[in-house]
Amino acid sequence: MRCKVLSFVVLLALIKHVSSNEIQAYPNTNATLPCNISIQEDKMDVTLIRVNWTRGDSSVATFGGAEEQVKDGFSWDPTGFTDGDFSLTILQASLSLQGVYECRVSYNFTDLPSSIVTFSILAPPSVFVPQKWVLLEKENQLECHAKGFYPPTVYFSWTREEQVIQPPFQVEGELSPDGYYTAVNNLTFYPSREDQNVTFGCKVSHRGNSQEVDIQLNVTYLPSVRLSVIKTRFSNTPLTLYCDVESFYPEDVSVSWFQNGTALLDPPATDQNTDHTYTTRRYFTLSPEQRQKRGMVECVVNQPEVADPVSTSADLDKLDPQDEAPVLTKSAKASVAMMCISVVLVFLLCFGFSWRRRDGESEPATKKHLCGSRESQVK
Ligand SMILES: *[C@@H]1O[C@H](CO)[C@@H](O)[C@H](O)[C@H]1NC(C)=O
Ligand SMILES: *[C@@H]1O[C@H](CO)[C@@H](O)[C@H](O)[C@H]1NC(C)=O
Ligand SMILES: *[C@@H]1O[C@H](CO)[C@@H](O)[C@H](O)[C@H]1NC(C)=O
Ligand SMILES: *[C@@H]1O[C@H](CO)[C@@H](O)[C@H](O)[C@H]1NC(C)=O
Ligand SMILES: *[C@@H]1O[C@H](CO)[C@@H](O)[C@H](O)[C@H]1NC(C)=O
Ligand SMILES: *[C@@H]1O[C@H](CO)[C@@H](O)[C@H](O)[C@H]1NC(C)=O
Ligand SMILES: *[C@@H]1O[C@H](CO)[C@@H](O)[C@H](O)[C@H]1NC(C)=O
Ligand SMILES: *[C@@H]1O[C@H](CO)[C@@H](O)[C@H](O)[C@H]1NC(C)=O
Repeated sequence: MRCKVLSFVVLLALIKHVSSNEIQAYPNTNATLPCNISIQEDKMDVTLIRVNWTRGDSSVATFGGAEEQVKDGFSWDPTGFTDGDFSLTILQASLSLQGVYECRVSYNFTDLPSSIVTFSILAPPSVFVPQKWVLLEKENQLECHAKGFYPPTVYFSWTREEQVIQPPFQVEGELSPDGYYTAVNNLTFYPSREDQNVTFGCKVSHRGNSQEVDIQLNVTYLPSVRLSVIKTRFSNTPLTLYCDVESFYPEDVSVSWFQNGTALLDPPATDQNTDHTYTTRRYFTLSPEQRQKRGMVECVVNQPEVADPVSTSADLDKLDPQDEAPVLTKSAKASVAMMCISVVLVFLLCFGFSWRRRDGESEPATKKHLCGSRESQVK
């Protein structure tokens, strides 16, 4: 018990003797390792100062009398020595310069309290979340990549519209060849329709600093698919199948056809004739609205370097006669007009006759007969 207390006191004395510091720096920055010693005098006599900065067993910078040696990559300012500032600067902080540094100073051959500095690199991660399409209502993974960090511990968390959906949890990075660490974290989730255009964030915390990367989800909607056929009466004619692909997103789709598991390839679009010319047939399906619009349809054949393409057109009424509401055609209209004109003529004729008759009295029976026969003829 006494022994323990004693050793504790000794330890305290030792610690008191040595000032200890931890210095962290970002890669490639300057880092100052402090070594300040308070002195009684205003100024020290520079010729009596001896300084030895060491790392492990090797010295990094020494100063004594007229001699001064500083290793490459370090620098210090000897003009500060007389004020008790023996700090050393690391010019380009890197992983290989990490370690425990000791500053030992003596004055007039008396050792002054030494200073121990632990130097380490602090490299925050760069965070990256690849944009990606996720499948509606299916299991999906969002990946969050953290790269180039040191030391190896990071915390990942996920947010949706700034609300935490996965609380922080610790991940130890994997060492990469450059000495820094990388880590990947996946968010597993089932996107809903409400997740379209919603902002998801991956937050990476490292040594008290955190960074967040936001992405907008692009949600793929799977289509509903119906297969149908255009009915024909005869079994020896070509059969056209069609597939309605509905309610999908985004716009890009391609459709393939199979028969008994074997791919149905599109027939060659063009056939070569014996005279080296070609023949082809192209299809276009009018929507019900386009079909209702009627009018002229035209097939225009463009060829490279041809300014006036060949074309042919046809009236939809001829190609696709409609047998609905009895709309009068031109000839029907003409015959109706003819009918009206003849009725008027006959009427005038009869009226004229009766008018004349009234002047020169004649029997009305003849007139009536005449009119009746004309009218029945027209009908
Ligand atoms: C580091 O220190 C050196 C020498 O003092 C100076 O030339 C350089 O600009 C400094 N670099 C940075 C990043 O501060
Ligand atoms: C060391 O001394 C210098 C000036 O001499 C001062 O600027 C610096 O803040 C001191 N550093 C510490 C850690 O006391
Ligand atoms: C500095 O200290 C190292 C390690 O203790 C020693 O090897 C070296 O000789 C010392 N240099 C001077 C100039 O005192
Ligand atoms: C250095 O130490 C010696 C004795 O060890 C002493 O006589 C002398 O005055 C000291 N010099 C200074 C500048 O403190
Ligand atoms: C996702 O959608 C956004 C717009 O909402 C677009 O800028 C981005 O390029 C899309 N991402 C991918 C991977 O297509
Ligand atoms: C994360 O998801 C990707 C696919 O998005 C997968 O390749 C990878 O194995 C997943 N990683 C983990 C740790 O689950
Ligand atoms: C998503 O955003 C894009 C462009 O920012 C917009 O065109 C689209 O309509 C939006 N979708 C939804 C479902 O809000
Ligand atoms: C497809 O399968 C049916 C029976 O399963 C068979 O009769 C037919 O010959 C097959 N057709 C092709 C093209 O393989």
